[in-house]
Amino acid sequence: MKMHLDEKIWLILSFGMILGFMLFTGYQTFVLGMGPPSSMETIDPQNVEETEPFNNPGITQIGENEYEVVMILELFMFTPGDIEIPAGSTVHFTMTSKDVTHGIQVPGTNLNAMVTPGHIQKITQTFHEPGEYIVLCNEYCGIGHQHMATTITVK
Ligand code: CUA
Repeated sequence: MKMHLDEKIWLILSFGMILGFMLFTGYQTFVLGMGPPSSMETIDPQNVEETEPFNNPGITQIGENEYEVVMILELFMFTPGDIEIPAGSTVHFTMTSKDVTHGIQVPGTNLNAMVTPGHIQKITQTFHEPGEYIVLCNEYCGIGHQHMATTITVK
């Protein structure tokens, strides 16, 4: 079977594009380390409260305008809840779940992550604008899912 020259050119172009995209995303993920950082560290979900740093959940100031929040997600609450920080703060969240898969989402920001039992999820967010930010669970986790919420107050 003879293939038309135009057909060959388009075939080469389309395979070249696919290969190009694969090389590009592969380079970003593995060489530049831009792959999703989640689920790199594991934890025994049965012993969350005995495992560092989750044996002491809460908010710690670690620098000027920089905070670390160690947070446990469980049916149907965030611990700690009602976080207060000054405007302009960068917050490093370290989170895990004690039971089922939860999500954390703060509408109006880029903070949106899945938090699964057995894994430690880390995400960093800077809060520039003062206000009351709602924190929601965005993974269906049971009958109390719609009540799983808290706030971050930026002053
Ligand atoms: Cu936790 Cu939905």
